[in-house]
This record gives sequence, C-alpha cells and structure tokens, in this order.
Amino acid sequence: MTSQLVETVAAGTRPGRPSSPRPDDHVIVLFGATGDLARRKLLPGLFHLAAAGLLPDRYQVIGSSRRSMTDVQFGELARQAATEFGMTKLDDEAWRAFQRNLSFASAEPGRTAELGAAIERAERQIGGAPGRLFHLAVPPAAFEPTVTMLGAAGLAPGSRVIVEKPFGTDLASARKLNDTLHGIFDESRIFRIDHFLGKESVDNILAFRFANGLFEPVWNRRHIAYVQIDVPETLSIEGRADFYDQTGAYRDMIVTHLFQVLGFVAMEPPTALDARHLRDETAKVFDALKPLDPGHVVRGQYTGYTSVPGVAPGSRTETMAAVRAEIDNWRWAGVPFLLRSGKSLAASRQEATLGFHEPPLRMLPVDAFSTTNGRHNEITIDFADPGSIDLGFLAKEPGAQMKLAGARMVFRYEDSFNTANALEGYERLLLDAMLGDQSLFTRSDAIERLWEVSAPLLDNPPPVQPYAPGSWGPGPALDQLAAPYHWHLRGTGGR
Ligand code: BG6
Repeated sequence: MTSQLVETVAAGTRPGRPSSPRPDDHVIVLFGATGDLARRKLLPGLFHLAAAGLLPDRYQVIGSSRRSMTDVQFGELARQAATEFGMTKLDDEAWRAFQRNLSFASAEPGRTAELGAAIERAERQIGGAPGRLFHLAVPPAAFEPTVTMLGAAGLAPGSRVIVEKPFGTDLASARKLNDTLHGIFDESRIFRIDHFLGKESVDNILAFRFANGLFEPVWNRRHIAYVQIDVPETLSIEGRADFYDQTGAYRDMIVTHLFQVLGFVAMEPPTALDARHLRDETAKVFDALKPLDPGHVVRGQYTGYTSVPGVAPGSRTETMAAVRAEIDNWRWAGVPFLLRSGKSLAASRQEATLGFHEPPLRMLPVDAFSTTNGRHNEITIDFADPGSIDLGFLAKEPGAQMKLAGARMVFRYEDSFNTANALEGYERLLLDAMLGDQSLFTRSDAIERLWEVSAPLLDNPPPVQPYAPGSWGPGPALDQLAAPYHWHLRGTGGR
C-alpha cells in the first residue's frame, strides 16, 4: 500500500498522485448502474478519477442492470449523478472525454449475450489484453445470482470482482456467499469493499500510530481507559426503506464499517503495510474479540420509523445500535470499545475517541464541572472527509490560582495539506482494485469471524427502544452502556 498523503501541487496544475502507479487499461462493468450507490458515489467517483488523470490510459465503463437503457440515456444519468453528487464542479470538456468511454448493456441470469458483446466490443476498442473489473453495486440478495451468472457466461476467468457490503447477514450466509464466490473467483481476485477503509483519515490512523514516536507507546490498556467509535447520522432512511428494514443499523454500519475501523485502531504494528501483513493484523484483532454480549447492546428505533413507506408495519428493525465490544488480548484486555451508529440522530459525525486513564490529581484542585466537558484527556480522530485529529487535555487557566480548564491541540487536514487532490473512499478503493492491491479490502476469514462474534446478538437481540428523531438515541440505556465513562459525543450538539 502506498502512502495516502496526497502530494501537494501548486494551484492550477493537474491534480495527480505521482506516488501511485497508474492502473493498466481496464474495462469496468458496473452492475446496479442505475441504483442509489452508483448515482451517489460510483459514477461521480469514476468521473473524478478520470478528470484527475488517475484512470488508465484506455478504459471503458459499461453500466449494467436488469432494465434496458441506451448508451445516451446512461450517459445522461451519469452526468446528472456527477453534477448532483460530484465533489468538483463538472467541467464540460472533461465530461465529454469521460462520456465517450461510457456505455450500457442490460443483463440478468440467463440473459447475458448483450453484456458479453459489450465487453468484447470494449476490449477490442481498447486493444491488447485490458483488465476486467466487475463491481457488484447490487442489493445483497443479488450478489450470488450475479456472481453465478458471470461464471455461467464464462466472463469470470482473468477478471476481478468488487463485492459490496453487507457481506451476508450472519455467519451461515456469509460462508455460503464466500463458497459461491470461491467457486468462480480466486480469493486474490475478490475485493470485498468497505469504503470507510478508503477514507484518508482512517488510513491516517496507521500513519499517526506507527510513523510517530509519541502515540504508539501509550496506545494500550495501561494508558487508555476506553475507546469509542461513533458514527451518528442526521440522515434518515429516505428512499432506502426496502433495504434498510431488512438490514438495520447493526448490519448496515457496525458489523461492517465500525468494526473495520476498530481493526485499524486496535491492531498490532504490522511488519509491512502490504495486503498480507495488514490483513493478518486485522484478522488477529477480530480473532481476539469476545463474542458480543446482548446485555451490552442497545438497539433503538426512532419514533415514526414504522410509518415510513416501505417499512413493515410493526417492524422491530433497529435504526440505531450501540455495542460494547471487548478485545481479549494483552494490549486491550479490560478496555471497553463502544461502537455506535444510527439514523435520525442529533449530529452527523464519524469519530474514533481514545480516552486516557485519569492520573492521580491530588495536588491539583480539579472541579470536574469547571471544564466544559468534564475533565477529559482524549484523542479524537474525526474521519469524515477531510478529517482531523484533536487532543483534549487539561491546562492551567491563566490567573493567580492553579485552576484547570479543558484545552485542545488540533490537526486539521485542510489546514496542513492541500486537500484538493484528496480522493473519496470509493475512489481510492476503485483505483486499488484496478491495481490488484487488496490491502484495504476485507478477507473472507475476517468477515466470517465478525459474524461469529455477532451470533449471540443476532440470536438474542434485546428489544428496540424508542428515541426521538434528532436526539442521541435512547439516553439512559446508552449512558449505562458507557458507564463509568461518558460518550464523547453527547448532549445537544456534542462537544
Ligand atoms: C453506507 C451505509 O455504507 O455508509 C449508509 O449503507 C451510510 O447507511 C453510509 O449512510 C455512510 O457513509 P459515508 O459515505 O457518508 O461516509
């Protein structure tokens, strides 16, 4: 894996990442090309990569779904998506160049001739032997049929495949999906994507910990009392009721994104940052996780959820989940890892917080309530793009008396680096998949282990508790889960 810190370039020059090799020529087939993920992330992301000069010299993107659509209609759909959700303003010339490489071919199990012909055409147009990448941006129920379809149509050999989350819904279904995939693709060609691992600030956890002498020595249970990985969202489930009601917050966010971030926060130093070493270390963390105790889980549902069109009447799906995980190894034994995420909450944040043990404070007359947020000594990594790191500590207030107050040391990506060239999680990972670099993609054994530790919760989920939309979730239960510590994000508006 190469460094994520993008090179600073003078304003006005062509953005690029000279430190990263450019992928070889490629045909990218996007299944689910008319869906929500393709519109919000993948099509704008591919365009951004193209405009930044990071896609291969020659490439073709073929959109695919069950429905039929002309190349022109697909081009228009992609243009609208890039305009609405792209990070940068649409440049007409760059767009025209990109659109020349877009086409559409519908396909479904048993009907693959159109897609096969489109791939052949695209490969001929590119010339040589371009790489082939299938991206399965389809609902979970369509993963297996799509992969089987690729096998039956003879399109799999020599190709790579990106599989979206959630990867299964429990251990048995994850194993079954892995078996189906392994029947058609070699593990080295399977890219299970978790876009949180492509975020600059999540990758920066490794740089922060392992490239500095200051932090790693205190990154353990001797110094850290608790860890929180907190991803509340103000966003609701608009337009995704069908998917969300089947999935819930635990499967949508916690067993996927939040546990992957936990892997980076908690891992031992890998001997190298390549795919084998990095993924071995995350797998070791997951191995050391204790099975979740349903008594240490809070499930919440925002009031009004069951009236959302598409949600089953009387649904017990959780729209917020918080779990206390424990890692039973020498570094972390006894340190609670609190993971929380949910919809319609008070704020949208993506943070990992490590709280230090309180030192003996006999000589310092500290009044806990004299500081804004109690007397917290915490490192908070905000991994929402563009990202920041905040160290909260106690300092002496100016004056004749030794009176303590909360203070902060802050690193902000946008203040320290030129973030104009930064890539979104999906963009980084699409590039890595074309390069065949699996470092930031999850391995089958790691996924299966996460479902294994989730089993007690999935078998015996605690009842959902109501919470008001716009609040932080069911307060008393969340406070109890965090006790004797407090949530870093809490109260109205967080810290
Ligand atoms: C997705 C979830 O994987 O991640 C969504 O399905 C969630 O429910 C989203 O909103 C959050 O990701 P981002 O891109 O906003 O960091």
